[in-house]
Amino acid sequence: MFVCSCFGVTEQQVKKHAEDGACTPRQIASACKAGTDCGSCVRRIQALLGRDACPRRDLADRGKTVLSEIADLEEAA
Ligand code: FES
Repeated sequence: MFVCSCFGVTEQQVKKHAEDGACTPRQIASACKAGTDCGSCVRRIQALLGRDACPRRDLADRGKTVLSEIADLEEAA
């Protein structure tokens, strides 16, 4: 079944990208373009990813913290 009809991306493909480490709709988009045209599939992709679907999600969350710390440092400079 297609998740993203704009790019013909299936649920199976999204799950495969999630297994390969794509934890967010943005990472799915860079892997297969899904969600980058009309955007109507982004919610469905989010639902497929879920909160616990990706074991590396913690790392992504930590990455965000690190990035915001860098932004804080740049503001202070
Ligand atoms: S259905 Fe995915 S971008 Fe349009």
